[in-house]
Amino acid sequence: MLSKLTTALAALVIGSSAAIAAGDYETQITDYAFPFEGPFGTYDQNQLQRGLKVYTEICSACHGLKFVPIRTLSDAGGPEFSEDQVKAYAELIEVYKLDEETGEYDYFQASVTDHFPANNSVGAPDLSLMAKARAGFHGPVNLGINQLVKGMGGPEYIASLLTGYTGEEKEEAGTILYENTAFPGGWISMAPVIEDGWIDFDDGADNSQDAIATDVAAFLMWTAEPKLAARKQMGLTAVIMLAVLSVLLYFTNKRIWAPVKGNKDD
Ligand code: HEC
Repeated sequence: MLSKLTTALAALVIGSSAAIAAGDYETQITDYAFPFEGPFGTYDQNQLQRGLKVYTEICSACHGLKFVPIRTLSDAGGPEFSEDQVKAYAELIEVYKLDEETGEYDYFQASVTDHFPANNSVGAPDLSLMAKARAGFHGPVNLGINQLVKGMGGPEYIASLLTGYTGEEKEEAGTILYENTAFPGGWISMAPVIEDGWIDFDDGADNSQDAIATDVAAFLMWTAEPKLAARKQMGLTAVIMLAVLSVLLYFTNKRIWAPVKGNKDD
């Protein structure tokens, strides 16, 4: 009975993995090292600041960040710009909003209380939550084993996508598609947007294609999960408290059962 069951199970696993291998385009996700990984990882403030620059100068031409309030750029644990810097940044952005006086929608200079603008001009998806909406690692037969070990891999996916162009193009129904080794299906309608040296960072940081891509991916991880450090800290506190509680319970338990077990010391 048991051996029959094992054989059936083995057949199922082999069968389904073969089906997936045949149907799915093999995507390539590089396991970039980000400073916010691991139980003690936090965002690198300078990296987030560089990422904002990349988003502003390149991505914002097509993508919006409509769920992200501009004021959070000065929050602790984030890019931590000074309030004056955030104000100056907001003044460079235009948002489409209601004019209280005329009752009509129009473009206005943003203030810190506004959100980043949405951008639907070319049908590019909003990037606010993209780092959490996409997973980089799946593991064999999409079991999610790699996600358990390496995390979801959203920022790794974004960085791999930005660096994954092969240079091949094709036209389909009037749209130009670019071959990309990270994009499921292998062909994306977003043109390559980052090359070596396309951004100059004020602090003279590395501006190779890989570095620019990981900086903007880290920034997008922060927009998707701004309270990451606080969450990790709370988890750590909980683990320590539970450990202390376990020790206390162990000794309490010993004491309660001592008379029954005939422990001579007690
Ligand atoms: C010229 C316009 C344009 C620019 C600039 C641009 N994108 Fe895109 N992006 C698109 C379009 C269009 C899509 C939808 C592609 C598709 O689904 O085929 C897209 C899709 C994406 C996706 C989603 C892919 C998925 O899994 O569905 C991500 C992530 C992304 N872009 C990141 C970026 C980042 C980061 C930047 C800046 C470094 C950027 N894009 C700059 C047009 C652009």
